[in-house]
Amino acid sequence: MTNQLTKDLNITGKKILLRLDLNVPVFEGAISETSRIEKIIPTIKMLKNKKTKIIIISHIGRPKGKWIKELTLKNVAIKLSNFLDQKIIFHSEPISPSTKNQINLMKDGDVMLLENIRFYEGEENNDNDFAKKISELGDIYINDAFSCSHRAHASIEAITKFIPSYFGLQISEEINALKKLTSEIKVPVSCIIGGSKISTKINIISNLIKKKINNIIIVGGMANNIIKENGFNIGKSIYEKNTKEIVKNIFEDAKKLNCKVLYPVDVVTSKDMKNPGKIKNLQELNNEDIILDIGPKTIQVINNVINASNTILWNGPAGYFESSYFENGTKQIAKSISIKTKKDKIFSIIGGGDTVAAINKFGLSKNYTFVSTAGGAFLEFLEGKKLPGIKAIEINTK
Ligand code: 3PG
Repeated sequence: MTNQLTKDLNITGKKILLRLDLNVPVFEGAISETSRIEKIIPTIKMLKNKKTKIIIISHIGRPKGKWIKELTLKNVAIKLSNFLDQKIIFHSEPISPSTKNQINLMKDGDVMLLENIRFYEGEENNDNDFAKKISELGDIYINDAFSCSHRAHASIEAITKFIPSYFGLQISEEINALKKLTSEIKVPVSCIIGGSKISTKINIISNLIKKKINNIIIVGGMANNIIKENGFNIGKSIYEKNTKEIVKNIFEDAKKLNCKVLYPVDVVTSKDMKNPGKIKNLQELNNEDIILDIGPKTIQVINNVINASNTILWNGPAGYFESSYFENGTKQIAKSISIKTKKDKIFSIIGGGDTVAAINKFGLSKNYTFVSTAGGAFLEFLEGKKLPGIKAIEINTK
């Protein structure tokens, strides 16, 4: 990779715009897991040692261009301040000419965090004027957010047209590790995809089938669409509209290309999320049910696949693991992959904010070949796609 932040890079005294992915899991209003913050500390420390002024840009959640109070980065600023043991200047106001004045008052080693960049419409629209406006806040841009580099957004892609741009330490480490591991992959390869970002991932499944993956196991919110399109009642469970055609293609392609696509045969459902659920076969679901986990028969099927695999790629929990009532499916998958990795020395690559939060919750995070901070970006990388955030720096720094 070209243009990397290294020890030798002479940037003393510069204002650094540092794009991070501080989109951390939040449960009942509080940050429930901090790996994405912890992993980025070495980059910030290196920039501090180089006597730069650090202006962090990040998003959290999907506010879609609106200022949504609940999606503030204020609590992230507090956590970051604890990890760095220094005050963080939290810029809670919209970016304006006064932002530049505040940045000009920063001393070497100071760290500022701008409010959620997705509060601005220009961000997700990858708007050039908006990107230019942010670029003018600094001298140098560093992308250290692998987990959102699959998004062609202004602070990830368009900004690189207006300011000298570099890759950070964390993004370089993740890309190098994933490149190496994916080039050494041994069949049979099984990919477990779950979580609730159905719109992001459902199209990726079709492409993964074409990548000679032997088994694709769909769990979590992702599976609800498959269950529904296969004719079952999913009650009040989350799902994505208009996926009939995509789901049909998934199964047709899988058949042609000899890839097994598996989805839950039984689930744990509840009428609310506050009480323990009931195990149900798909035929038993009714209009009031909310699917919140996979059931024991499904866990058994998944264990069998894991045991027959030489490579396992996993992104997205199997259920609402944040609640102890619905964590079992995710926990059993995490355990099985961990045991298999140790026993048979297979490759296991785990990725995604929630998945990382889950393996941390179960105390298993050290038991896999590689743990990536990225979910959607990790899957698109596996598809073989050049991620917009990475391509942009490569193109604009030739
Ligand atoms: C992630 O958590 O995968 C990244 O922060 C990207 O988030 P997004 O799917 O909302 O773009």
